[in-house]
Amino acid sequence: MPIPARFDAFRIHNDDAGYRSGVEQVAIDDLAQGEIDIAVVHSSVNFKDALAGTGKGKILRRFPLVGGIDVAGHVVASRDPAFKEGDAVLVTGSGLSEVRDGGYAQYARLESKWATLLPAGLSLRESMILGTAGFTAALALLRMHENRQTPGLGPLAVTGATGGVGSLAVDIFSSAGFEVHAISGKPEHADYLTSIGASEVLGRDALGTTRPMESARFGGGLDNVGGPMLVSLLAQTVPYGNVASAGLAASADLGATVMPFIIRGVSLLGIASAGTARDIRDRVWQHLSTDWKPRHLDAIATREVRLSELPGVFDTMLEGGSFGRTLVTI
Ligand SMILES: NC(=O)c1ccc[n+]([C@@H]2O[C@H](COP(=O)([O-])OP(=O)(O)OC[C@H]3O[C@@H](n4cnc5c(N)ncnc54)[C@H](OP(=O)(O)O)[C@@H]3O)[C@@H](O)[C@H]2O)c1
Repeated sequence: MPIPARFDAFRIHNDDAGYRSGVEQVAIDDLAQGEIDIAVVHSSVNFKDALAGTGKGKILRRFPLVGGIDVAGHVVASRDPAFKEGDAVLVTGSGLSEVRDGGYAQYARLESKWATLLPAGLSLRESMILGTAGFTAALALLRMHENRQTPGLGPLAVTGATGGVGSLAVDIFSSAGFEVHAISGKPEHADYLTSIGASEVLGRDALGTTRPMESARFGGGLDNVGGPMLVSLLAQTVPYGNVASAGLAASADLGATVMPFIIRGVSLLGIASAGTARDIRDRVWQHLSTDWKPRHLDAIATREVRLSELPGVFDTMLEGGSFGRTLVTI
């Protein structure tokens, strides 16, 4: 199907008129170069999208760009023989809405080296309920596994548990056989967290310490929050457990001591979803479409919006008010 001369895109500008974003009409040749053109079916909203769309974080490195770090749709034109018209593909991160145009548009032009053929076992919709958030949670589990994390070490803590990464981590970790303790500042969503796989729900202050060492209560965990919570998690992790650091929803600080590392052999694993090597990306999506596929994707997709509704979603997210994942439908 031919691409229309002009189509809708949620574009971000920063020029003499200031930082601004919204829906406008663009042409396919306005977009950054790439080998495949897709008709977008879904995108999603991540914390980084909210920072980029509002200008509250320095995400974009050139302007203007179409927003949206995640995208899934059907190929309508390909200049790479590895992809053909009609293929269902997805891209997460990989410079979208950072150095090249992203997924908040009716059509996207993508670099084929970052595109993944939709794995059997996932629909386009499911792939974007997962998006960067699900990829990040699964990448954390992959790295923990590689570093000998087992359910026998004890429960995995997930901070920022009602968020996108947090909710998917709760579901994925429990699907993979781990007991999950969800740490959240939203007690009103305790039932939600239990329903998606948490066996315990703890308040943010339950970790309660920034002392270098405490009695060990977690096998390890995934931290989406940073600052004192990450320090507490390290201090309460069992010998040779792993703590994966993925986010900074509260703070980018890390005021820790080396004690958990040198007394208990605890490992701090860095998780960077954007730009993950192709072989690791393929392994993560393989897991996400099979043995680690979350069992509660419909419950985690708490909101579905159109491009014009994005500004309101961004504000709620940056205020810490969202929960679960917001799916964008084109
Ligand atoms: N490393 C990577 O590759 C990667 C990939 C994706 C996201 N991230 C990062 O991971 C974090 C989560 O992203 P997301 O898309 O899941 O965002 P999100 O949906 O907005 O979730 C963030 C959650 O963090 C908690 N939170 C927010 N403000 C807090 C505060 N001041 N103190 C303590 N907890 C707070 C909230 O959960 P509760 O109310 O349940 O506590 C909130 O729902 C962000 O920092 C994001 O930049 C990193």
